[in-house]
Parts: sequence; structure tokens; C-alpha cells
Amino acid sequence: MKITKVLGFSMTALLSVSLLAGCTAAASDGDAAVNTTVLKVAFNQNASHPQAVAILELSDKLKEGTNGAYELELFPDEQLGSQAETIELVQTGAVDLAVVAGPLMEAFNADFAVLNLPYLYDSAEHQMSVLNEPDVTGDLYSSLAESESLSVIGAYHGGIRNVYTVDGPVETPADLAGQKIRVIASDTNVSMMELMGGVGTPLAQGEVYTAIQSGVLDGGENNELIFADLAHSEIAPFYSYTKHLMIPDYLIANSEVLAAFSDADRATLDSLFAGSVVSELAAFDEKVVAAKSKAEAAGAKFNEVDIEAFRDAVAPLLEEKINNDVTQAIFDKVEAAR
Ligand code: GCU
Repeated sequence: MKITKVLGFSMTALLSVSLLAGCTAAASDGDAAVNTTVLKVAFNQNASHPQAVAILELSDKLKEGTNGAYELELFPDEQLGSQAETIELVQTGAVDLAVVAGPLMEAFNADFAVLNLPYLYDSAEHQMSVLNEPDVTGDLYSSLAESESLSVIGAYHGGIRNVYTVDGPVETPADLAGQKIRVIASDTNVSMMELMGGVGTPLAQGEVYTAIQSGVLDGGENNELIFADLAHSEIAPFYSYTKHLMIPDYLIANSEVLAAFSDADRATLDSLFAGSVVSELAAFDEKVVAAKSKAEAAGAKFNEVDIEAFRDAVAPLLEEKINNDVTQAIFDKVEAAR
């Protein structure tokens, strides 16, 4: 298990990462000396986030399961850049893997939108029952391997997203009128927020606090972990349970790095990843409870909303984004698993 803490993001740090990506280190494993390939994983949240914990566990098990051939080194806290920047680093191979929010993949293949639609999943269990099912997502996840050097290994649960604002609780779409709400960059998210009544404003996660504080934004939409851990709860304290979105968080890899795995090592990675998805989901709920208490202690207020009004408002987006055979087939399978 490795976790690296670097102060701030600098070109020097990036350069050293690029020189080190996929580096091998001699390790002694019993009698035989093996070369361990250390794969760099970019992560935009903190080291106690359930996905970070899952990846560190995955690293230990991968090292054991591949007899020392592979381990992972996690770079948390946006050290290697915003999620959008780290996708590019994975493409070039400067970084081997990254955890990135599903909406960002729409810039590479618009069909990814079908998995990022509001009110698509009934529960986290429903979401996870389809996201890592090869019959549902296998072709989509490998669709960028040749053209963009990006492969999706699989998806982690990333919480349930709710709106939070500076000026008072949101109960209906009318309450969001004129309010600039930060969204993760994608056409789907911008349209979604417009239908919800607000003005969707794409921004990287790390810039949201300052944008709200300076009045550029009126709020954001995210799960309770980000709300509490990034202290958004202190400056936009009205957290309204719109429950509008569950997005996948993908573990993506540079496709050439994955192609270099032996068949046995790749099978080990896939099966260990499946296990890490289960433990991440179990840990998430606990973290939500703790984050809510932390936010409440900081003065945040939580309120229920007219969910049906929001669900009706965003319905046209499903029509718009389920627009070809690929998205229709995936959507039908998500419905069937409901
Ligand atoms: C969630 C998600 C992250 C994403 C973040 C965001 O926390 O898990 O992958 O980066 O939202 O809003 O940017």
C-alpha cells in the first residue's frame, strides 16, 4: 500500500510523476526477485474517502495476488490536477489510473450520458447492480481503448447528489430560479440544472469553495461527504434533499498499461476490483452519517423537497439523451434491473 502526499500541484510534481509512471522497482518475494510495477492513481478527494480506502486495499491485494508484479500508489487531494486534467494524463500515460466522475467521460463518448441521468437509479444497490455488469456496460467501457487510450476498469458508487445553496432552502424548482449552481462539466448536467430551475455552472471540484465564497456561485450539488469535508457546508449551508443524481465514479486506466497485464494478472485485477466495489459501497453509508453530523455541527440545515416536482421537471432529458441503439439498450437493461 502506498499513499503519496505532495504539497500543492506543480509542474515539477507532474514531471516527476510522468517520469515515474508505471515505474518498476525490484522487490524480493521469497526466493524469487520480482520487479514490481507501481501504478500511479490520481484521485481528487481526500485519503479517508471510501474510494481512497478501497484503492489502498486493492493495492495490497493486487500486490499479493500478482505475486508482487503490480501495486498502486494513490495521489489524493487533486495533487495531480482536477479530474478533467487527470483524464488527459491517463491518456498520455503520464499517470496510469484515475478515479473520475462519469459525466466527464461524455466529452469522449456521448453515450456515457445514459448512466448519468437524473433519477435513473432507485438506490445505490440498483446502480451498482448494473454499472459493473459486463453485459450492460462492457462495450461502453472499452469503447475508448483504441481511439483515446482510455479503458474503464469499472465503477464505484459516488453518493447521492443533492442541491445546496447560500440563501435558503430549496423546495421546488421555482426556488432555484436565477441561482448559479455548480455542476460537474457535461452538457447533460447543464441541461439538467436548467430543467431543475437553476443555472448549471461547470467547474472543477477544487474551485467550488472560492467561487461560492466570492459570490460567483449561489451553490452546488453534491453528496454529503464533499459538502462537509470541503467545508461547503459553512458557506452554502442549506442542503436540500433533491436526490436528483447518482453518478458513477470510474476507475479508468491507460489502455496500453492494461494491455501489458498478463491474462492471469488482469483476471486478478478485475476480481479484486469487484470486491473493492462492494466494500466501498458498504463504507459510503457510514461516511454519509458522519459527514451529516459534521455539517450540522458547522451550522448546516438539511431539508426535504418536493421530489416529484423535480423528477417531472427533468423528464425531457431522458428523451433527449436516450437517442440511439446503444443508449436505448443500456437504458432498457437498467430498467430491467429495477
Ligand atoms: C463526487 C464524485 C467525484 C466528483 C465530485 C464533484 O464527490 O464522487 O468523483 O469529483 O462529486 O462534484 O466533482
